[in-house]
Amino acid sequence: MQTHQFDALIVGAGGAGLMAALYASQGGAKVAVVSKLYPTRSHTGAALGGIGAALGNHEEDRPEWHMYDTVKGGDYLADQDAVRVLGEEAVDAVIELEHMGLPFDRTSEGRISQRRFGGHTSNFGEKAVRRACHSADRTGHMILQTLYQQCLRNQVRFFDEFQVVDLLLNQGVACGAVAIQLGSGEFHCFNAKATLFATGGWGRVWQVTSNAHSLTGDGAAIFLRRGLPLEDMEFYQFHPTGLYGLGVLLTEGIRGEGGVLLNRHGERFMERYAPTIKDLASRDVVSRSMYLELRDGKGIRGSDYLHLDIRPETVNRYLAEAGETRRIDEDFIARNLAETLEVCRVYAGVDPLQEPMPVQPTAHYAMGGIPTNVNAEVIVDAAGKVMQGLYAAGEVACVSCHGANRLGTNSLVDLVVFGRRGGKRIANFVREAPLIPPPMDAGEEVRAEFERIRNSAGSSRPGALRAQMQSLMMTHVGVFRTAEGMRQGRDAVLELRQRFLQDLGIDDRGQVFNTDLMEAWELGCLLDSAVVTAECALAREESRGAHSREDFRERDDANWMVHSLISSQASGLVTEQLELALNHDRPVDRSLEAEDERFAPKERVY
Ligand code: FUM
Repeated sequence: MQTHQFDALIVGAGGAGLMAALYASQGGAKVAVVSKLYPTRSHTGAALGGIGAALGNHEEDRPEWHMYDTVKGGDYLADQDAVRVLGEEAVDAVIELEHMGLPFDRTSEGRISQRRFGGHTSNFGEKAVRRACHSADRTGHMILQTLYQQCLRNQVRFFDEFQVVDLLLNQGVACGAVAIQLGSGEFHCFNAKATLFATGGWGRVWQVTSNAHSLTGDGAAIFLRRGLPLEDMEFYQFHPTGLYGLGVLLTEGIRGEGGVLLNRHGERFMERYAPTIKDLASRDVVSRSMYLELRDGKGIRGSDYLHLDIRPETVNRYLAEAGETRRIDEDFIARNLAETLEVCRVYAGVDPLQEPMPVQPTAHYAMGGIPTNVNAEVIVDAAGKVMQGLYAAGEVACVSCHGANRLGTNSLVDLVVFGRRGGKRIANFVREAPLIPPPMDAGEEVRAEFERIRNSAGSSRPGALRAQMQSLMMTHVGVFRTAEGMRQGRDAVLELRQRFLQDLGIDDRGQVFNTDLMEAWELGCLLDSAVVTAECALAREESRGAHSREDFRERDDANWMVHSLISSQASGLVTEQLELALNHDRPVDRSLEAEDERFAPKERVY
């Protein structure tokens, strides 16, 4: 196996990985970024509508209001030390992106333009505020382009289309990762003083998702298989507006610009569920409301989708009703929501200027993941112990600044703020730290797993197993959950996992760009992610944020103001049993609440 040595290894080239790489390299570290995709194809590009920061370019805004919305939106489970960092550092991070050349849209005075988004309010929930800084509806894409250019300028070394398949640990510290080069099928060992995982989420666990095909939970599964814990896996967000049937994201920015959700009777039903903030309630609330409308037979033409209407005549009518002076026209939509128009026209044959868009909730974002502190250092137990040399940032990490439900635009804030912190911390760490060599048996287990898959000749095709898992998770571990359903879902997914281990069959036994092989390996990661999600969801007997149980409808602050940590007890990569240990010992940080009672848990009113 070819071995490469670097000070810092960054796994994943989305916004968090690139920001970490940039800062580590600026601090003098020799940095490699290993990514299964070409960097600018990373999923950060799918975060469309904006990045939240209290710049106050249109009206007064303050970081503490951003912090308040984040804590409230997360249903009080967020760690408030992390929320403080997020709210305070967002402003500086956005200005830094601007200075790097990110082409934000502008106000008429030349400032960064900001739009409304779900749950963004001024003065501790008083009224909606324009906080989402945007570049049309391609904000994440612009962040990727900007950071990638900066990394190239800083001599960061990129290994594109190298998929990391294992984490290297030696003497209790992290010392790199093993990757497979997709083009050759060869395994490579990356030996590094510091390793940061920024591998994104696992939306492909569900049938309808906004996530790209690459979002298969590789990073989380690798950690699990190395015996490291994952945090708050039960909290998975459904974005209200996926394009019907495909799940492709239609940005919340559409509603931010005045778009409204309508049922089959043309009723703006969010007025009933969230009378004050309506269509801009937080995502968990809007997705649940949509499900209730559908259950009530109010889907369009009796089907399982609703309408999202951005046509100027509709929007202007509601703006007038609300006493607002602002009006929109077709040019405004074409300029600000260009991606939306294109996606709807190409994938649904619908022109949003002429007719409403068909939408349904779509699996979108993991609030849980690899536990970290505010410096992106990986935590390995409930007491907060850090593993030397190991870092995580972005969606795969759980810092936890989103708590039980993330506010729109906070994913982009999270990855630039905590990616940057991780990069800075790594730059300092590698200056003094020794390079620990890889263990003697580096890569052996994972190579054996790949050989098992390559030579598998059973009757269970990866595509069929994946489709069954996605359908089970959608039905039983989706927006609404019950113990009975989740148990059924989990047990059925465990059976699929057994078939994956004992009866798998793939066709391509080659080395070069063997997508059959890679998709099968990724399926193993998805199955592990699905099992731990269901297990954690089953254990949490309350409703909070995106975790909505029909058998435990209330939030239970007395018993459940805790994070969950789950880890696998079986060792090795080819695990016959996935024995999981779950505990809820990790307390929630409530430091903001200690200073200001407004950050204390309250019943949510919209
Ligand atoms: O709706 C959106 O534009 C998505 C943004 C996000 O998930 O933060």
